[in-house]
Amino acid sequence: MTQIPANSDVPDMGRRQFMNLLTFGTITGIAAGALYPVVSYFIPKSAGGAGGGITAKDKLGNDLSASEFTANRQPGDRSLAQGLKGDPTYIIVSEDQQIASYGLNAVCTHLGCVVPWNASENKFICPCHGSQYNNEGKMVRGPAPLSLALVHANVSDDKVILTDWEETDFRDGSNPWWA
Ligand code: FES
Repeated sequence: MTQIPANSDVPDMGRRQFMNLLTFGTITGIAAGALYPVVSYFIPKSAGGAGGGITAKDKLGNDLSASEFTANRQPGDRSLAQGLKGDPTYIIVSEDQQIASYGLNAVCTHLGCVVPWNASENKFICPCHGSQYNNEGKMVRGPAPLSLALVHANVSDDKVILTDWEETDFRDGSNPWWA
């Protein structure tokens, strides 16, 4: 019978410790990965930071001043600004001369033309194929299949902050098709 020398374990200890460390690291990595969604659920999204939204900009790329915007417009006005992902987005002046809490993506849901606001008709009318949307962007006449996409609009430090609208569409109670 072959006797294993007493000192033959010495190099194995190093290997075993290495394997233990590797196993510990793997388990820790898996646990951290599994916990990430739980932890991130409890961290509120930033209103204006990277990934949490953007500041609406005018056609020159400057931040919109909310006070200037409302001072120069009538209640009910809908004016275009650069919104999320650079999409043309209507900022709405409410009846009490404030920035409304929602904005409208101006891209027609038919084939993507920018839909102008028609104040005298009190609706958005697409020049490309005649689709119509009411003053809240709800589709009222095709061929557009869907309403205009919503975004949240909030004022912070006199800037208009736009963030994704992921909740129910308040116009018809449906799930947001754009989210
Ligand atoms: Fe607007 Fe066709 S792109 S109706």
